[in-house]
Amino acid sequence: MSPWLKFLLISTTLGYFGYAVEDGSSSVSLTRSKIWGPGLQADFLMPVRYFYIQLVKHDGSNLTDSVGQGTIRASVSTVSGARVRIWTQVLDRHDGTYVVRFRPFSSATDLLISVELNGRHIAESPYHIKGDVYHETCNCPHQTADQWASSVGCPASYLQIERDLEPFSDIDMVHVAREAVERFKDEGRHSICHYKVINNKVYRKCYGEHIGFNMFADAILLSLTRKMFLSDVEFFINLGDWPLENKPLKDKPIPIFSWCGSKQTYDIVLPTYDITEASLEMMNRVSLDIFSVQANTGPKWENKTNKVFWRGRDSRKERLQLVEMSLKHPDLIDARLTNMFFFPKNSSKYGELAEHVSFFDFFQYKYQLNIDGTVAAYRLPYLLAGDAAIFKQESDYYEHFYSELEPNVHYIPIRRDLSDLLEKIQWAREHDDEVRKVAENGQVFARKNLTPADILCYHVRAFESFAKHLKKKPTETRGFELVEQPSDKETCLCPNNRSKTLHRDL
Ligand SMILES: *[C@@H]1O[C@H](CO)[C@@H](O)[C@H](O)[C@H]1NC(C)=O
Ligand SMILES: *[C@@H]1O[C@H](CO)[C@@H](O)[C@H](O)[C@H]1NC(C)=O
Ligand SMILES: *[C@@H]1O[C@H](CO)[C@@H](O)[C@H](O)[C@H]1NC(C)=O
Ligand SMILES: *[C@@H]1O[C@H](CO)[C@@H](O)[C@H](O)[C@H]1NC(C)=O
Repeated sequence: MSPWLKFLLISTTLGYFGYAVEDGSSSVSLTRSKIWGPGLQADFLMPVRYFYIQLVKHDGSNLTDSVGQGTIRASVSTVSGARVRIWTQVLDRHDGTYVVRFRPFSSATDLLISVELNGRHIAESPYHIKGDVYHETCNCPHQTADQWASSVGCPASYLQIERDLEPFSDIDMVHVAREAVERFKDEGRHSICHYKVINNKVYRKCYGEHIGFNMFADAILLSLTRKMFLSDVEFFINLGDWPLENKPLKDKPIPIFSWCGSKQTYDIVLPTYDITEASLEMMNRVSLDIFSVQANTGPKWENKTNKVFWRGRDSRKERLQLVEMSLKHPDLIDARLTNMFFFPKNSSKYGELAEHVSFFDFFQYKYQLNIDGTVAAYRLPYLLAGDAAIFKQESDYYEHFYSELEPNVHYIPIRRDLSDLLEKIQWAREHDDEVRKVAENGQVFARKNLTPADILCYHVRAFESFAKHLKKKPTETRGFELVEQPSDKETCLCPNNRSKTLHRDL
């Protein structure tokens, strides 16, 4: 046997060629690659903790592609070897970067996090996380809201919150409650809840027929009060789609929180129940979230279909118009209704209802359309995080982050009546580089501003600022229901009763 053949045989057995050729991981420098992010600190107190990997080549340049499925692995255990229930996931963003995230289902002290490429440690791995890591249901408030915000890295303020609160000062909640209930309790049309946080306990009283959505407001308040002491505060939250307070400024509008704002109303926006739930329940009850979408962005740009893709229900007339346009111009638009509820069905006009398409498959297409439903379409965060350019219908409705988005930078604006959509699609096809840049900008924005920490931070800053605008702190809980924390079977060694628990264990 020639030496060459021998080498070939041995190296094939060792999988050398397979590994070098198939996944490109041999070009990765284990030591130059970078790992960073808040999930490497114990005091990043969030339901799911996360950090990032940038693979770097031997020559110091960044990798811009995936190194193949299963090549990067991460594991989380305890330094002591004590058992801990943690689910860990590596999300391949197919651009040389990865998100590693883990959800602790029980608490632990001193974690050991390993990140490996084909079994070899990357960057400074293994990481030793000193301190207590609590699981989400652990009821362990041991810091002020400000302390939590600073350890999580929240911005000091949000322009949107400041703007929203500007019309309100010295808020008299007795007056607000009287007026809100009188004006917005009309059964069937509105559903509102009055919340009070007193001594870090959550109380509520709801008005209206459809108050099931209070579970979303409950969930965020309970999650926050398990982590920190919120200031005593009370407020109304609107559980409906439409913002409510349309009184002009001179008639003294009342403050009310809503998941959607509009140019005609004075509602104070909070992140939508949808992205809030996804931030709390990722790796648990929810599968579409701001990270999972980053790992499911379809083919590379060059290989995406250059059409507008859209699926949704018939909650606004422009959605029907879009579908009619799509039937006329199937070469430019693939838009179908998945459900008809508001308008009468007419298959010769709107085609047949389409099968459900996984959100991840939207990114087979270069162009996505964000078109209002009853109000703002709450899919925008996920469209931004994906890998496609967004055509956004001009709208008076907005979510908490829209004011930071710029037209033609983060999205391509489309007239409200869609009259320029066809022409903008043509333009996009002729200006592929510019459009690709818009897609990238959107992605960068979402990665930077719509993480779970951002969503929780926004709530904390909104509630804490609102508390400062109150004339007086709430004290009365008569007529209110205590919203109980969920039961938690796992032990959590909270700092404030740690020694007690330890002694009992001994
Ligand atoms: C390489 O990646 C890091 C982290 O993603 C980034 O901050 C840096 O700007 C990149 N460098 C270049 C030259 O693109
Ligand atoms: C595009 O698809 C073709 C055929 O599947 C594939 O060979 C090619 O590598 C893809 N291009 C990119 C940039 O991914
Ligand atoms: C359905 O749409 C077709 C084509 O636009 C129209 O001619 C017809 O009158 C519509 N049918 C109903 C029941 O509205
Ligand atoms: C002590 O920890 C347990 C969970 O193990 C928790 O239910 C309880 O509320 C804590 N008590 C105090 C005073 O923090």
